[in-house]
Amino acid sequence: MKILVAGKGGREHALVTALLESPSKPDVYCYPGSDAILRIAKAADASVKDVDSLVSFMVGEGIDLCVGGEESFLAQGLADKARAAGIPTWGPVKDSARLEASKEFAKEFMVRHEIPTGGYAAVETYDEAKAAITSYPTVLKFDGLAAGKGVAVCATEAEAEAFLREVLVERKFGEGRLLVEECLEGPEVSVISAVSDGQYRVFTPARDYKRIGDNDEGPNTGGMGAVASRVLVDAEMLQRIEDTVVRPSVEGLVRDGMDFRGFLYCGLMLTQEGPKLLEYNCRFGDPEAQAVLPLVQGDFAEFLFHGAKGILSDDLISFGERWSICLVLASAGYPASSRAGDVITGLETVEGARVYHAGTRLNAEGEFETNGGRVLAVVAQGETREEALSTATHEAAKVDFPGSQRRSDIGRLHF
Ligand code: AMP
Ligand code: GLY
Repeated sequence: MKILVAGKGGREHALVTALLESPSKPDVYCYPGSDAILRIAKAADASVKDVDSLVSFMVGEGIDLCVGGEESFLAQGLADKARAAGIPTWGPVKDSARLEASKEFAKEFMVRHEIPTGGYAAVETYDEAKAAITSYPTVLKFDGLAAGKGVAVCATEAEAEAFLREVLVERKFGEGRLLVEECLEGPEVSVISAVSDGQYRVFTPARDYKRIGDNDEGPNTGGMGAVASRVLVDAEMLQRIEDTVVRPSVEGLVRDGMDFRGFLYCGLMLTQEGPKLLEYNCRFGDPEAQAVLPLVQGDFAEFLFHGAKGILSDDLISFGERWSICLVLASAGYPASSRAGDVITGLETVEGARVYHAGTRLNAEGEFETNGGRVLAVVAQGETREEALSTATHEAAKVDFPGSQRRSDIGRLHF
């Protein structure tokens, strides 16, 4: 079987690795990939430059399965075009990818299908937004592309006014509506399920650590680490999440006639009143994938291949009871800026842990150097949280580059 993964980050490095480790031994390609990914996966032709040329390449190469890693490809219609060309694709069609692309669309879907979520109002102007805020703290979300900067949790009226002015008056992110959301409180958990035509399989729950600093302090990032385990949340809570959020979401997709074959990511907050859904993503999480995928046993490649054809075969994969911990090393200046060109040392000394590259490149000397905000992740498993943490910490300590930033409490701050 020939599989092509679309994307280039740490999540795609983890996806490519999990596919290559599948007993069915598929041939794995990646586009655009990265220097690190393309050491283990085959590259697409140099002529591939967009979704259309990627689909032509896949047809010519006889690709059996296309896996959408990065949402941008799905939002551009990768699944629609690849499927039209006869290639089974894991990742939803463009219309269904709106669950991630539009926050208002997602909220309307949640309300329509009675999925627990915080209250909200969708507004267009500064005055409408001000009128919709009933208390502080409040959560303001720009409903459009904002490079991860479109969400503000505002503790005071002054903070909210400053954000609203930037977004709705100065139009920092361009045209678009804004959601005023009820501010929920509680620990967050990411529950990712494989979904295919009304069937679903819940993967090991995970938690990502979004803030740059220890104790969840400082600005938000793309994720400084993750922890995953079947017992991260207790069995009763996991069942409640499945019953009130996952199943109604999957049934909602069917009821609304939304074609969905791919990963459905539910970002949840465990409030006093029970689990509430913050957001959907139509792909695996990053860095959740780096923590969760090493826990998958069985034939992941065959599982996705059948799933992309509309059959979720429960017996193809299973999840152990182990813990997995992912520690991210970020570059100097991140998240405000990022520095490239710092040589990474110690990679070859890592043993008993996986290293997934997110922002690295090979320099002229053939050494890996930094090339982005989040540079790489060191991931280890263990029978207990302590064991996984101890291995991950020990192995991550061997890897370094000038200005590297890492959190020291990933997997410790527990709930
Ligand atoms: P989002 O981009 O929607 O995932 O939001 C980014 C982060 O903002 C989430 O991971 C939460 O930490 C926080 N957040 C989003 N929505 C809410 C909410 N309604 N209440 C409290 N925090 C929220
Ligand atoms: N870890 C959050 C995300 O992938 O969106």
